[in-house]
Amino acid sequence: MEERIHELRRQLNRHNKLYYVDNAPEISDREFDELMKELERLEALHPEFADPLSPTQRVGSDLNKAFESIEHTRPMLSLANTYSIEEVDSWINSVRKLLPSEEVTICGEMKYDGTSISLIYEHGRLVRAVTRGDGTRGDIVTDNVKTIPSIPLTLDPDCGAPDEFEIRGEILLPWAAFDRLNREREANDEPLFANPRNAASGTLKTLNSAEVSRRGLDAIFYYVLSDSLPADNHYDNLRAAAGWGFKVAPILQRLHSIEQVDEFIRRWDVERKTLPVATDGLVFKVDSLRQQLNLGFTAKSPRWAIAYKFAAERALTKLRYVTFEVGRMGIVTPVANLEPVLLSGTIVKRASLHNEDIIRKLDIHQGDMLYVEKGGEIIPKITGVDTSAREPGSRPVEFVTECPACGTPLVRVEGEAAWVCPNKYGCPPQIIGRIEHFAARKMMNIDGIGAETAQQLYERGLVRSTADIYDLQPEQLELLSGFGPRSAMRVIEGAEESKKAPFERVLYALSIPNVGATMSKKIARAVGSIDRLMAMSAPELCAIEDVGPTMAEGIIDYFADERNRENIARLRNAGLQFEAQVKQYLGGSDVLAGLSIVISGTFSRHSRDEYKELIELHGGKNVGSISKKTSAVLAGENMGPAKLEKAQSLGIPIWNEEEFLKKIGE
Ligand code: IVH
Repeated sequence: MEERIHELRRQLNRHNKLYYVDNAPEISDREFDELMKELERLEALHPEFADPLSPTQRVGSDLNKAFESIEHTRPMLSLANTYSIEEVDSWINSVRKLLPSEEVTICGEMKYDGTSISLIYEHGRLVRAVTRGDGTRGDIVTDNVKTIPSIPLTLDPDCGAPDEFEIRGEILLPWAAFDRLNREREANDEPLFANPRNAASGTLKTLNSAEVSRRGLDAIFYYVLSDSLPADNHYDNLRAAAGWGFKVAPILQRLHSIEQVDEFIRRWDVERKTLPVATDGLVFKVDSLRQQLNLGFTAKSPRWAIAYKFAAERALTKLRYVTFEVGRMGIVTPVANLEPVLLSGTIVKRASLHNEDIIRKLDIHQGDMLYVEKGGEIIPKITGVDTSAREPGSRPVEFVTECPACGTPLVRVEGEAAWVCPNKYGCPPQIIGRIEHFAARKMMNIDGIGAETAQQLYERGLVRSTADIYDLQPEQLELLSGFGPRSAMRVIEGAEESKKAPFERVLYALSIPNVGATMSKKIARAVGSIDRLMAMSAPELCAIEDVGPTMAEGIIDYFADERNRENIARLRNAGLQFEAQVKQYLGGSDVLAGLSIVISGTFSRHSRDEYKELIELHGGKNVGSISKKTSAVLAGENMGPAKLEKAQSLGIPIWNEEEFLKKIGE
């Protein structure tokens, strides 16, 4: 049986690599799933052969963990940047000067725009994944990195990898996964990631590794370090690492002259636009490790390598007109509508001008020729005006003084750049925005009510405030364009289901100024019910963690309005949750949901009984003895050796007091 388990792991690791690294699968997804199921079944039957690095363990857990940090064995330095071919050439000349009368070969590769990672392997097993951090210390993110399918967790014993080595590379979110993630976030009214780099580093630091696994990270490696490397040059070492199972920088070329280096730059400056991942430049490295050693490091970066950064792409195009758009909170955003122009592979027709101050600073006039840039950011930015092309007598763009949607005079919030339409309850885009926000996934999660449906519901007079959603009848919904009996029922059922959503989500759904997902959670837990929240004074509100005077004032104003109070009363009658579950009220959570935990030994921070209560408060179950069903052991001092051995042989994680308290956020 043990042999079959090992065989399945070997096969799954191999097919995993064929699929994710080599892009050359040999078996169907279904056959892969069948092998995986067989392994899962055997591992469940034989917990004595459990291995945290088995291919079955890539899925990630739902536990929240804060990250521990660790010192890098070798500091993770950055590279000196250059911005022109001439600068790269003069770097090559300086290298040659430092290595007189030697042949110098340079390796050219892409500079991947993600977040750097260091992986430590010992005896063919991934022992640790660490972020760059400050270059000296980084965060341990092994659990999240394990969910990246192209990273080998164990290596083939015959692959020839050194017994101990470190491999560095970049964690990336490929364009396709990035676009998908942002589309989802947009639908949920969550802030968008500006570029794949931010998305990759944000994801890597996500506490929930199941969520990490869902987002589709990938990794490309470009640097191997070890006391027993297979070759005396960078190029061959990377090729060898590819043979050990790593996805190694696929664009890797030896260059023997300045001309070849220049040619490489000219080629990839253009062709990089067709790559499936984001790049922000090229990296040139001296190939010979002996020469690298001789060249050494400055305080911040190696002398043997340099980065060449791509220029942000810029286009010049004509401003057709400026529109002013009103959001859910009444903020009016100016948008430049442009003559369509091709920029970094996409056609740009619109770019946000953000606020009045930016229009004034750039001094934009009607019909101006504008510079549009797309650097590392996805959203195009207006960076300047070509004043030489300005039509004589053209007038500066003026910010509107009245709401473009409802005509109400705008007001400027003191100390802020934004103009706001104060007609909260009569201005259509604000009402429609609130309906859409209310129904989105992270709020009431009413399937079938997106931006378009929200607009139709409002325009047909069916929904004027969010409580109207719960009075909708199937025959009314069927009248909406694009709706039939099935989609109508989906909305009705979604609304019914939403009545179970916990108080913190209802609070978030209400569109109280400045109260987003995180603050709704904090407030819901701190106050426990809407009635208490409505009765609170500003000083009482400010006593809640992270609530400041502005937010407190927003909350008080919100509840002072009769229309909001009436809407809440109707939502309450419809059956929505306006009280926190007792568990949340006491500071509990679901972080231990589904886990059976054994307590063993003596403790210093809490008593055993208190630990029992804490486990239950956070959704777990306290069980008496260790079995293969046990999820973890909370071990104090002097845990019995027999118990310890049993837990270890079953591969059950053992948490000390500190680790446990960290998990439950204490
Ligand atoms: S080599 C000591 N190669 O760029 C040199 N870095 O500014 C080690 N990067 O932190 C780095 N692609 O995150 C190297 N092909 C590549 C790279 C690369 C991207 C990143 C890396 C590093 C930063 C340096």
